[in-house]
Amino acid sequence: MKNIKVLGYGSSLPPNIVTNDDLSKIIDTTDEWIVKRTGIKERRVSKDETTAELATEAARKALDMSKLEASDIDLIIVATSTPDYFFPSTGCLVQKEIGAINATCFDLAAACTGFVYAMDVALQYIKSGKFRNVLIIGAEIMSKVIDWKDRGISILFGDGAGALIISATTEEKISESYTKSDGTKADVLKVLGTSLIDIYENDKMISRGTITMNGQEVFKFACNVIIETITELLRKAILNIDDIDHIVLHQANYRIIEYVANKLNINIKKFFMNLDRYGNTSAASIPIALDEMYQNDMLKSGQKIMLIGFGGGLTWGGILLEL
Ligand code: COA
Repeated sequence: MKNIKVLGYGSSLPPNIVTNDDLSKIIDTTDEWIVKRTGIKERRVSKDETTAELATEAARKALDMSKLEASDIDLIIVATSTPDYFFPSTGCLVQKEIGAINATCFDLAAACTGFVYAMDVALQYIKSGKFRNVLIIGAEIMSKVIDWKDRGISILFGDGAGALIISATTEEKISESYTKSDGTKADVLKVLGTSLIDIYENDKMISRGTITMNGQEVFKFACNVIIETITELLRKAILNIDDIDHIVLHQANYRIIEYVANKLNINIKKFFMNLDRYGNTSAASIPIALDEMYQNDMLKSGQKIMLIGFGGGLTWGGILLEL
């Protein structure tokens, strides 16, 4: 069994900022309500950038930092629920742009848990010895699947991409994962897929895929599964919470993070947060957070970090990694 080391971080965010005040001009809401209920102040919304373009820019930055050549990359996994195309995969589009000629490439869809699932797949491939250097990307253009008039949804989401390069190492490093799904709750958070979209009514095309969500049910689910995932990862790694330097939760809502911190009696400072600036970027939120932590000199070799995702499916899971 091989151990895992992080070699590079990168992220890419559209420059266009949409503030809560901007939203209050198109829906009945206020900056005060959104900040109090979610912690979100603004989000990035793509004007021209595509999912593959954001993914490629994040990948280039991670590759630069890793000092690997693009041809050293064995596997590219892009976690996304908002790809440019169902095929070719976003992974193949990134491969073409960066010239990762030796990589196997695919996309993985697990909503906001996508990055954690993708990282788990990458860990298993590296540990089995099949692949050595893996580029994992979370990239989303959530703004295109949102009904901007739905105030229970449009306030929450944003666009962006983040990337990580992990590699096999002989250094002693802890890496654990925990993943779960519950398809019986598929209805509480969903975006229509192409096969379900009604395109004709009286010979007219009538609808596009948009997110629907039972916010309160998702809120309760998130709190429960985060606590379950933290507990399971600590049990598997035989560690306790004081051994963990940072917990990077999927950036959905400040109140979810605050609830978990209080319930488990963990200092809230242990939870990195940037949701105030980017909102919920779905599968991209964890790698964007990691890149920002790296840029702010918060990540040091030997630190132990937890990455925890949760979202539509329902899906959830976490990775415990020693840097
Ligand atoms: N601005 C102002 N008022 C709003 C509003 C908005 N953007 N959205 C909803 N409201 C109103 C509701 O209409 C309701 O009014 P009423 O009491 O007159 O009926 C009131 O605020 C309370 O609505 P409710 O839905 O109970 O609010 P909430 O405290 O549950 O917060 C969410 C709503 C969506 C912020 C919250 O449920 C949430 O964050 N859930 C988790 C969602 C999530 O993270 N999803 C992604 C997971 S990956």
